[in-house]
Amino acid sequence: MFTIGVLASGKGTNLQAIIDFIKEEKLPIRIGVVISDNPDAYALKRAEKAGIKNVYIPPGRYKTFLEPEVEKKYVECLKENNVELVCLAGFMRVLKKYFIESFKWKIINIHPSLLPAFRGLEAWKQALDFGVRFTGCTVHFVDEGIDTGPIILQAVVPVLPDDTPESLHKRIQEKEHLIYPLAIKLISEGRVSICGRKVVIR
Ligand code: GRF
Repeated sequence: MFTIGVLASGKGTNLQAIIDFIKEEKLPIRIGVVISDNPDAYALKRAEKAGIKNVYIPPGRYKTFLEPEVEKKYVECLKENNVELVCLAGFMRVLKKYFIESFKWKIINIHPSLLPAFRGLEAWKQALDFGVRFTGCTVHFVDEGIDTGPIILQAVVPVLPDDTPESLHKRIQEKEHLIYPLAIKLISEGRVSICGRKVVIR
């Protein structure tokens, strides 16, 4: 069994897509633990319902990242639960050096744009405001930058003339729910390697 850990701050639709995909495809993957920095995250409830261990670890006093002591707790919890791959699924904090080094090239994220365009928050809104005709989503390895790591998979979504931020985000999320579980499957099968900035999938 390949063990993953999921970090989520919000509604957890990506977590749900991962849970469902593993079940439907009968994959030899288990979610060892779901951790949230938000006690009210619906992601925790989804984990509970699916019988997956879930914990809230308070983030500390900063808004955009975890306190150094707290990072240690997150890493400890993931290691205690034998996590081999950390999947960020709407986790709203930037991971710092200690965390990244503890799981070097073993952390992935889903971002709601075609990177390297529109890094950072509300990327679907950035895309809409900029006036692009196409946007999408990206699964990438996490490095110390913000949404800068090597790209694993991407999916394209058209921007329609009467799109609102909400309608566009919804269309992007439908694709997220397809490519994120797929990327996890490919990694679990040992088919993904990193060569400089490029990711090779066999
Ligand atoms: C997704 O849009 C993802 O791209 C971004 O955060 C959002 C999380 O959504 N990183 P959910 O909590 O999985 O529904």
